[in-house]
Amino acid sequence: MMTDRELLDLAAAARKDAYVPYSRFAVGAALLAKSGKVYTGCNIENAAYSVTVCAERTALLKAISEGEREFTDLAVVCDTPVPSSPCGVCRQFLTEFAPQCRVLMGNMKGDVIIKTAEELLPLYFGATNLENMGK
Ligand code: THU
Repeated sequence: MMTDRELLDLAAAARKDAYVPYSRFAVGAALLAKSGKVYTGCNIENAAYSVTVCAERTALLKAISEGEREFTDLAVVCDTPVPSSPCGVCRQFLTEFAPQCRVLMGNMKGDVIIKTAEELLPLYFGATNLENMGK
């Protein structure tokens, strides 16, 4: 059984591998799959800035590429006075798989804000939108 605090601590620890030569803004993520496994991630920047991958998507990509499809909790931690929230691209990426996933947003002081993925991206574009084409 993984507690919220344990998942947040894994996310905070994952910041150490962040590749952030441009922003110096290190983000760590820890994603708990229904299987019980945790996948961590960090942000990975690029000289062509838009190619940057956020910590949340790094964790999701690791998990999905290893066969995981269902997720219950995603912790994301950065060193800001108030916890930061996932970018729009990461929200869209997460709702594809787990709209009910809890998103635990934390900072290095221990503050936490918790929302579901769907709360962070109401009316998200999903598979049902595609199914309703022309109707
Ligand atoms: N970033 C993340 O990794 N996750 C977020 O939730 C917000 C932003 C990264 C992208 C970039 O490397 C740096 O933070 C500054 O935007």
